[in-house]
Amino acid sequence: MKKAGRNQNQVELFDFVPETMERGRAKKSHRRQVRRARAQALAAVRAGQNRGEDELAFPPRSFGPGGERRAKSLHGLKTLKITGVDTTAHAAATGYPFVAGPSLGAEGIYLGRDLHGGGAFCFDPWSLYRQGVISGMSAMFFGQVGTGKSSLAKSFAIRSVLAGRKLSVASDKKGEWTIVVRALGGSVIQIGPGMGTRLNPLDPGTRPGLDTDGKPLMDQGWAMMVRTRRMAILVTLAKILTGRDLEPAEHYVLSAALDRAEGAAESQHRVVVIPDVLVGLDQMRKEEDQYASEAASVMWMTLQRIVSGDLAGMFDGPSTVDFDRDAPAVSIDTSSLNGASPEAARVVNACAGAWTEAMVTTSDGGQRLVIYEEGWDNISSEADLRRMVEAWKLARAYGIFNILIMHKVSDLDMAGDQGSKMAAMAKSLLADADVKVIYRQDASALRITTDEMELSDRERALIKTLPKGTGLWRLGNSSFEVKNDLTRAEIPLFDTDARMDMIA
Ligand SMILES: Nc1ncnc2c1ncn2[C@@H]1O[C@H](COP(=O)(O)OP(=O)(O)OP(=O)(O)O)[C@@H](O)[C@H]1O
Ligand SMILES: [Mg+2]
Repeated sequence: MKKAGRNQNQVELFDFVPETMERGRAKKSHRRQVRRARAQALAAVRAGQNRGEDELAFPPRSFGPGGERRAKSLHGLKTLKITGVDTTAHAAATGYPFVAGPSLGAEGIYLGRDLHGGGAFCFDPWSLYRQGVISGMSAMFFGQVGTGKSSLAKSFAIRSVLAGRKLSVASDKKGEWTIVVRALGGSVIQIGPGMGTRLNPLDPGTRPGLDTDGKPLMDQGWAMMVRTRRMAILVTLAKILTGRDLEPAEHYVLSAALDRAEGAAESQHRVVVIPDVLVGLDQMRKEEDQYASEAASVMWMTLQRIVSGDLAGMFDGPSTVDFDRDAPAVSIDTSSLNGASPEAARVVNACAGAWTEAMVTTSDGGQRLVIYEEGWDNISSEADLRRMVEAWKLARAYGIFNILIMHKVSDLDMAGDQGSKMAAMAKSLLADADVKVIYRQDASALRITTDEMELSDRERALIKTLPKGTGLWRLGNSSFEVKNDLTRAEIPLFDTDARMDMIA
């Protein structure tokens, strides 16, 4: 592989760091060698930073998604066709039965090694969907703290982007994707108090050329989509800020205030913003009958928090950033919200999530990965959860593959009490996720994981002891034990602990 000839740390794309953490199997010298490789990679980044060079960067892709075009390059990622062999019944009866399960084939992104069948483990949801191996375009990653879930998502995302896909990180609460997105040449939107960046949750989003049925999207259909989205986000915000469900009168006044706000903004040829809705609510306080005017007052006071107080300046005007749909990667970094009130954090998540989804739900945008880091937060708000369930159902139509990262299956119970609508919705996310990757689980989480995923005794025993970086993959009916291999360039980008040292 040719190295990037730029004034940056040079990056070898396929330089995988040798094996480290197979339980007890790695020799001492081997481990030392790996530690040295990691230290060298980190030192290279530090040296680059000291010289004032940009962060580590991957070389731009110079060929199409099928690979480099040259003679005999097997361009197009075709797998070999297996044909039968004629043999006698006697010979067949004594034939050696193959003990390893079938692999997923070589189509897709190399992620690491298949520890059961041996060989490479490659994964490409779009091609698996085409082949009928999976029927839904979403994945869930579970695992204890520090087991390597984010590293898996990041290595898959980096390699996918280098192969021509796009990446969106809906809400990055720890800010750990920023360095990855920058290394890919993408753009990072930082949202938080005093960051100076504003997102307008009422932005219309990207207009798709086709609707979900593949028919051209008419003006009327588009207007309905935008209106539904706007109403959904307003209801979400009101629910988060009141901490309860809305009354029918409150729904009514929000909807009517949105109509007024849209009318006012249209007459001034600009996009509607939340202060317009507040003006609408204020008018309704004065004009409507007592019941509606009370509801308008409550909603007016509730939404005031977006324009004043701890949330001011983040969502109360036209967006100051554009969602660059052509950028290889975009993330919304909300790490500066650490320590903010829980409602503020949930408002930011809801707005960032809704905004990202509005921007990426278009069939003309190419194939895209959408990552929800620390997804348990999204699950606990009903409106957020509802939006996510819908986005997941639409993923296929829009060429999107979603990845939700959580600690344990029981985090889904945070959605609501057993038997509640919320709990059912959260479970439907799990059911819709045709790809489940389970990293090590502690004893308390193990029982629920085993029950919900119908794991075998062997799988259950395995999950208890999985080393860092190795996970159990469940794809439809097959399961694989996969060790995620990282490259020398990726390690310093993913090393959350080492990054902490550098910042200090
Ligand atoms: N496959 C791997 N090979 C080598 N090191 C790894 C691998 N996966 C993860 N690590 C290292 O382990 C550390 C923790 O990984 P990571 O941040 O991905 O964990 P996590 O499961 O996302 O944790 P959290 O629950 O805190 O988000 C990182 O420093 C990373 O470099
Ligand atoms: Mg993580």
